[in-house]
Amino acid sequence: MNNDNMGRRGFLQAAAGTAAFTIMKPQLVRGAGANSGVRVGLLGCGGRGTTHTETILKNTDARVIALADMFQDRLDNAKQQVDKLSAAKGHAGVEQTFVGPNAYKQILDSKEVDAVVIATPPYFHVEHLAAAVAAGKHVYCEKPVAIDVPGAKRVLEIGKKAEGKVSLDVGFQIRMAPPFVELAKRIHAGALGEIVSGEAYYYCPRIDFTYPNAPQPVRRLRNWLQDRVLSGDIIVEQNIHAIDICNWMLQGHPEKAIGRNGRKGRDFPGDSCSSHFDVIFQYPKDVHVSFSSAQFGKVQFDCSERFLGTLGSSQSPYAGPIGIWGEQQWIWGGSEKPAAEGQFSASGAFSDNLAQADPEKQKAFIGSILSGKLHNQAALGVESALTAMLGRQAAYAGREVTWDELIAANEHWDAGIDINKLG
Ligand SMILES: NC(=O)c1ccc[n+]([C@@H]2O[C@H](COP(=O)([O-])OP(=O)(O)OC[C@H]3O[C@@H](n4cnc5c(N)ncnc54)[C@H](O)[C@@H]3O)[C@@H](O)[C@H]2O)c1
Repeated sequence: MNNDNMGRRGFLQAAAGTAAFTIMKPQLVRGAGANSGVRVGLLGCGGRGTTHTETILKNTDARVIALADMFQDRLDNAKQQVDKLSAAKGHAGVEQTFVGPNAYKQILDSKEVDAVVIATPPYFHVEHLAAAVAAGKHVYCEKPVAIDVPGAKRVLEIGKKAEGKVSLDVGFQIRMAPPFVELAKRIHAGALGEIVSGEAYYYCPRIDFTYPNAPQPVRRLRNWLQDRVLSGDIIVEQNIHAIDICNWMLQGHPEKAIGRNGRKGRDFPGDSCSSHFDVIFQYPKDVHVSFSSAQFGKVQFDCSERFLGTLGSSQSPYAGPIGIWGEQQWIWGGSEKPAAEGQFSASGAFSDNLAQADPEKQKAFIGSILSGKLHNQAALGVESALTAMLGRQAAYAGREVTWDELIAANEHWDAGIDINKLG
């Protein structure tokens, strides 16, 4: 991929040219129609990966049969949980485990695995995603798909290789949360009138440092959330969820950004991430979105977006009232028909607007494999990762940075870790 293709216009054309899904014959999908169902392997058995296995086992007929991780203790914890949940469903549980730096290759080599969930630290996503698609596995890759521009470009290429062959999902589960889906539908239908500006924020407390006495680079790997390169910094690793909602609601990505960041409040030894970002993104048609984030101390968790238009304004917090205020007033739970039995509640019973996000996302992923209507979310994952990188770069540089400039600079991030030496 050259820089021209990745420019604002080229990127949008490339993304638009990638089908949202491709229809494949289900019999081409191993597991479809078979009693065993889809057989899933988990790569990265930490907090998020273990949650994925629980969501899959509780909400689909897929089995989780293989686990891979760098560290044995993570593998053991996940196995215990997966075996327990599998037994509750009458499944056999984990059949294969792989540990160490080559665990990702081994799980992808397994003939028993149809689909793999990648929940390793962001720095490894590109390599793991490339290997998964090359091995012909359906893949659910956690966000962010990459932490630097060369990685993002490579993910677009991986997406092309996946097209029509395997399903490729990216971990933006909020796009499947029913209140957010309804909000997007209404905003896209013009309920806000002409959108003028917006705000988004993502605040949370500091994440604890663990294994303080472990030797390097194990300590860095164990504490990747405090490592600027392994995580991509807080804006790319975590705040990307709010940034992805902005891209979704505004149907595109910013042309440029200005910003500031800092480390005040979390400049501890071994911690290289920012404590906060403040960025103004400029979207097409002169729409300005002011974005603010924090991850330090005892900051209270809160995340939301607000879009302001000539007919009204929207608000979309993780918890609390979500809707549109103005001429086309609508509040989730206030104007929906009651849910039919067996469907998700549309009655406002959710205090958590994300309650259905993970289940709906995993049902869609597994469903895409069984139906042969394959997903390809590589371009979408890249667009939001690059948007977060644009905000990061503008803040680091302390000046305006354009999308095209970011792509052309093509800055490569190297963690300087040889994980093979850990084996
Ligand atoms: N979508 C969401 O809402 C959401 C929520 C939390 C985390 N995440 C994402 O999920 C991913 C994992 O986050 P987490 O909170 O589970 O982190 P975690 O540290 O709890 O888990 C990561 C796991 O990967 C393992 N690992 C590290 N390097 C590895 C390698 N090279 N090969 C194999 N295994 C390796 C670690 O030992 C650990 O068990 C991140 O990308 C994060 O951004 C997404």
